[in-house]
Amino acid sequence: MIPRLTLDVPLIPVLVIDDEAWAVPLARALARGGLNTLEVTLRTPAALGAIRRIREEAPQVRVGAGTLLTPEDVRSAWSAGARFGFAPGLVPDTVRAARDLGMAFVPGVLTPSEISVALALDCPQLKFFPAEAAGGVAMLKAFASPFGAARFCPTGGIGPAQLGAYLALPNVFAVGGSWMAPPEAIRRGEWSRIEDLARDAVRSAGPMPSDRLNG
Ligand code: 3PG
Repeated sequence: MIPRLTLDVPLIPVLVIDDEAWAVPLARALARGGLNTLEVTLRTPAALGAIRRIREEAPQVRVGAGTLLTPEDVRSAWSAGARFGFAPGLVPDTVRAARDLGMAFVPGVLTPSEISVALALDCPQLKFFPAEAAGGVAMLKAFASPFGAARFCPTGGIGPAQLGAYLALPNVFAVGGSWMAPPEAIRRGEWSRIEDLARDAVRSAGPMPSDRLNG
């Protein structure tokens, strides 16, 4: 069975980091705001170095990797120090690569067929992406009955205004997004703004409901 991602706060900041020198001040700003689990997307050449530096220099933070498209991405992220992974889509070999490493892994799904494949791989934590464009809360509600074992992390187009409606769904274990650390704020080094955004998000989200503590 693939390890579960367990969270105290049901939020995943999705980060795009262009310069690995930004990684540690960014991670510390999010942690000061109450978010000590974060996802660095493998979308920039700096991403793996950023993961490594957060792991080494900000050990209070749990760092994971996102945009893991191939089994090689999963292994590189793990070697850099990521202890969980997200992907925008579902590739069975990436799920298997993560399972072989003992890495919690959350592949992306949008359809009943994809959810079925993920559950058959014993992978019940799923990223619902791109959430707002693909039916949002209504779609996740419709998945609840046929897919009682699936737990979702909706991501894509979500901000403070939509957060509460997603977190009210019993089949949602977290909400992901870049609104907690917008790419332009990272580029400008606006660490205190990011700390405030994180704190606001934590306040709006509240603690993880006890029925969802184990993912
Ligand atoms: C992701 O990769 O999960 C998304 O790009 C994050 O979506 P958002 O930027 O719309 O929050």
